[in-house]
Amino acid sequence: MISKHTIDLVFETARVEEVIGEFVQLKKSGSNYKGLSPFSDERTPSFMVSPAKQIWKDFSSGKGGNVLSFLMEHEHFSYPEAIRFLAKKYHIEIEETEESPEQQLQNNERESLFVVSEFANLYFQDILLNHPKGTAIGLSYFQERGYREDIIKKFQLGYCLDEWDAFTKEALAKGYELDYLDKTGLTIVKEGKQFDRFKGRVLFPIHSMSGRVLGFGGRTLSADKNIAKYVNSPESEIYHKSQILYGIFHAKKEIVKEDNCYLVEGYTDVISLHQAGIENVVASSGTALTPEQIRLIRRLTNNITVLFDGDSAGIKAAIRGVDLILEEGMNVRVLTFPDGDDPDSFSKKVSSEALKDYLQNNSKDFINYKVSLLLEDAKNDPVKKAALIRDIVNSIAKISDNIQREIYVQECAQLMHISEEVLFNELAQLHKKELKELHGVSLTEKKSFKVLKAPSAEETQETFLQFLEREIIKLLLLHGNKELDFIDWVDAHDEHGKYKPQEVIHRNTVFEEIFLQLQTDEIEFTNELFRAIYYEIINLFQQYETINSDALVNHSELEIAKEVTNILMEDERYLIGKWEKRDISIKEKDDKNEVVKSVTDCILNFRRNLVNQKITELKNSFSLNEGNNNESLDLIMKYKGLEMLLSDKLGREV
Ligand code: CTP
Ligand code: MN
Repeated sequence: MISKHTIDLVFETARVEEVIGEFVQLKKSGSNYKGLSPFSDERTPSFMVSPAKQIWKDFSSGKGGNVLSFLMEHEHFSYPEAIRFLAKKYHIEIEETEESPEQQLQNNERESLFVVSEFANLYFQDILLNHPKGTAIGLSYFQERGYREDIIKKFQLGYCLDEWDAFTKEALAKGYELDYLDKTGLTIVKEGKQFDRFKGRVLFPIHSMSGRVLGFGGRTLSADKNIAKYVNSPESEIYHKSQILYGIFHAKKEIVKEDNCYLVEGYTDVISLHQAGIENVVASSGTALTPEQIRLIRRLTNNITVLFDGDSAGIKAAIRGVDLILEEGMNVRVLTFPDGDDPDSFSKKVSSEALKDYLQNNSKDFINYKVSLLLEDAKNDPVKKAALIRDIVNSIAKISDNIQREIYVQECAQLMHISEEVLFNELAQLHKKELKELHGVSLTEKKSFKVLKAPSAEETQETFLQFLEREIIKLLLLHGNKELDFIDWVDAHDEHGKYKPQEVIHRNTVFEEIFLQLQTDEIEFTNELFRAIYYEIINLFQQYETINSDALVNHSELEIAKEVTNILMEDERYLIGKWEKRDISIKEKDDKNEVVKSVTDCILNFRRNLVNQKITELKNSFSLNEGNNNESLDLIMKYKGLEMLLSDKLGREV
């Protein structure tokens, strides 16, 4: 693991504007930088970087955060990958914390497998492009298939000479250990002899999301049906077939930009589509998608379009696998090619423009597609139709979004000429069964299939509370350290004996005021995230006696860092519109009275809410325990009085 010391040093050294400047063209705008959002196609800049706060915000997609979260969003790095990237950029030496000997061994081994694979990748490319046999056999094969040179280089295609151990010999001569050649499968070790696994094949290196070579797919050049068309790297410490998608490294940016991912079967489909200018494409490498692969895509988009080859027998088998994608909560569309064509062959028959049009205009919603496809067979056969209904309902049941599911029920009912009731019943049956299996309970209602409903009083109260909680955090982040005059209310009566609370001024920091007031009322935040942030702020204050929002922006819990960034950047939002006009100075919105007013307001509102809760509780208990009703009535009246008082104060304050 990377040491805390290194991580801190990286945070201290890295400048958000410098790092983002590598990926986005930034222009100075007042004390900030602005640019075009890298997460969407836009013409007017809505992407902003604040050097003072060391954070960024993309107003077109709503994303934002610190330098690390930018790398994670934009480059899809993991946390350690992002730290390593920054350390390299700023020439910071990475210090690793103590690892157990096994961990060390395992990490070293993984690292060694990566190193060997990268060597092999360079070697095979070199052979393809520079060795006489490589160009004569390998390169000319790719050229015959119509691959352009830039595409061959982009995908780092290679060739392994048709000799028993040309590669292995070279690797050993260069000092790579046989053990790692064996473990990556590049070399087959058998009875003391060594052979190149990919002998005589052209090679497709398979990259991880961050671009490291994990393994290879090797295609034979022979048309002999007895020879396996592809030989792939075997499972190893670094190559897990079920967690890999071919092309993800080259596709990730475009998947995010297009907010859609095309899924194809083979290596050659990915490459041909790239050559035609379609870059948001990955291949499952000929097998059904696994949940891990789907989740890899889901890090980038919620939308998948599956491209099926043209023959309908294959399609029927393939659509079964698609239910899994629905189950992962993604939206699935499908697209088929004319009989006999796959994306690779089709892309060679038509121009790039025509291909793009075809992809754009021919995708169909998966469930509708499944219905129309299967309906053909079942049309006049009631038994088949009943089975089809169950099959479709099974697919619909995988969708987790209530509203979407409801829409599908309506559409499918129409397509199949049956009533929605029939589908709903089927759905409810299925759901009941599943619940029973899961929890051993039976449901009498199909209540989990409700659509939109009006928010209840509880829900509105909940949103209001969350609004207050967020306001409090905003006040703490923006003004927590300020010392201001607050008003206290002390019980008092006027000369006629009438209750008339008195104002007493006291000076306090915003943090202490909020903390003490909320503590007095034992107010707990209802929203989990806000509660976590609030406790973090208290923590910071207790340690340093000041609130330093940097520590929160760089918090290791990304949810916290993200929300804090959002709150801090909200202030800047109204600047966006004014960018075009230069030199507009906007008065900082921290008028002292405003802050005091906001703090008092929030606290009073919290308190009023608390009182209302008490009243409701008492009312509910009212008829239940008749003996105490008088007492309860008294209490209710007292609380009512308190509520009026609070409302009155709020009225005056606003
Ligand atoms: N595949 C494999 N092993 C095989 C056959 C196929 O691993 N023996 C995987 C490969 O990842 C391949 C994908 O399944 O890319 C699709 O198979 P296929 O359509 O036969 O190959 P293509 O990649 O389309 O190759 P080509 O265009 O050269 O036929
Ligand atoms: Mn194919």
